This record gives sequence, structure tokens and C-alpha cells, in this order.
Amino acid sequence: MTTPHMIHPARPLLLAFCVALLALPAAADDLANFKASFAEKGIAKLDRLDQSALQKACSDYAQRPLPAKLRAKLEKAELEAVKFPADGKYLGDWKEGEKIAQNGRGLQFSDDAKTANGGNCYACHQISATEIAFGNIGPSLAAYGKLRGGPTEALVRYTWTKLYSSHAVNACSVMPRYGAAGILSEQQMKDVMALLLDPQSPINQ
Ligand code: HEC
Repeated sequence: MTTPHMIHPARPLLLAFCVALLALPAAADDLANFKASFAEKGIAKLDRLDQSALQKACSDYAQRPLPAKLRAKLEKAELEAVKFPADGKYLGDWKEGEKIAQNGRGLQFSDDAKTANGGNCYACHQISATEIAFGNIGPSLAAYGKLRGGPTEALVRYTWTKLYSSHAVNACSVMPRYGAAGILSEQQMKDVMALLLDPQSPINQ
């Protein structure tokens, strides 16, 4: 006989079934429902919900490991599209870089198309020791250049690539693609690079 406080033997099975359902990739219907729950406002249009092939692949594999072959293919395509500075100069002005890292404006519905975009790096990273309001979705970038042996060519190219298209380094990264998505200009990227890599930058003191 089953008393009300006893766990019904079918419960664990039912739970496993629900978990399996959650793990399935989002169906087209779900995407349509998702889109229907958003409205366009100001410069934020609904085409932002349209996924690139890479984003689709990352959504499909959100609950299971991305196969190594697919990962390599996605990263290769992103890597081939990275534009390095034509003048060969990677480091701008770290003071401007700090302002860009601090700035979360641009691209929001309450911004207009002329608002200069910021990088909003502090939303996810610790950077300067003097800034105590930072998020930790990404690793700490405190003393970034100093800890990695200064601005060697390899480190400079790696960091530029990561900033230009984070997905070239880690296919399903949540970090914005600052160059590829046109969020930051080449000069702004150079300024942020200087904040991270210039030996004069306060983060490397
Ligand atoms: C939405 C969160 C997010 C934002 C915003 C963000 N990042 Fe990241 N970043 C990450 C995550 C997560 C990682 C590590 C995992 C990965 O590769 O995706 C990372 C990794 C990095 C790395 C590589 C670190 C290493 O040790 O290899 C650098 C450099 C970097 N970010 C710089 C920046 C800069 C500069 C900005 C602003 C222009 C920025 N990030 C904005 C999430 C973010």
C-alpha cells in the first residue's frame, strides 16, 4: 500500500524523462515562441535573434560536448576572417583603452545609432586594480601582459585574435566578437590592447 508521503516508484523515471527533454536541442517552434516574446525597440531590432551557422551549432550542442572536428572547423573559419591591423601596430593608448573597457553604452535600445560603442570588459573581467566593480564570467585580466612575459609577437597576435573574434579561439565562447561583429573600431581595439599589454599600462605595474 502507498501512503501519501512515500515516493512513487515511477517518479525517478519521470524525472529522467523530463531532464532528457530539456537536453534536446531547441525545436523550430521554440525559436518562434522565443522570437514572439521580444519586441523591437529603438535600434534593437529582432534580426538580432537570427543565429549564424556557428551560433546554431553552439545551441545544438549546448547540453552536450561539441565534437572536436566541428569545433576545429568553426574555429578555423573564424580565424581565417580575422583582420590584423594593416600598419602592423597593435598597441594604442591605454588611457583610452581603460575608458572603452569601462563603457557599456552602444547598441542598446536606449542608444541611438551614433552612440560610440564601449567594450564593457569589466562586466566579465577583472582588469585594473583600482576598479572593484567587475564581473567574473571571464578570467581575471589583472597584470595580463606582465604575467605572460610582456608584449611578445605571439601574445599580441593571440590577444588581437581573441578580441577580434573570440570564437576563433573558443568556438562557443560567450565573449563578444569585437572586430568581427563591428562592435569596436580598429583604433578602439588597439587602445584596449594597450590597456592589457603596454608595459606602461597601470595593470602591468
Ligand atoms: C560576456 C562576457 C565577456 C565580455 C563582455 C568580455 N569577455 Fe573576455 N572572456 C570572456 C570569457 C568567458 C573568457 C574565457 C573563456 C573563453 O575563451 O570564452 C574570456 C577571455 C578573454 C581573454 C583571454 C584570456 C586568456 O588568458 O587567454 C582576453 C584577452 C579577453 N577575454 C579580453 C576581453 C576584453 C579586452 C574585453 C572587452 C573589450 C572582454 N574580454 C569582454 C568573457 C567576456
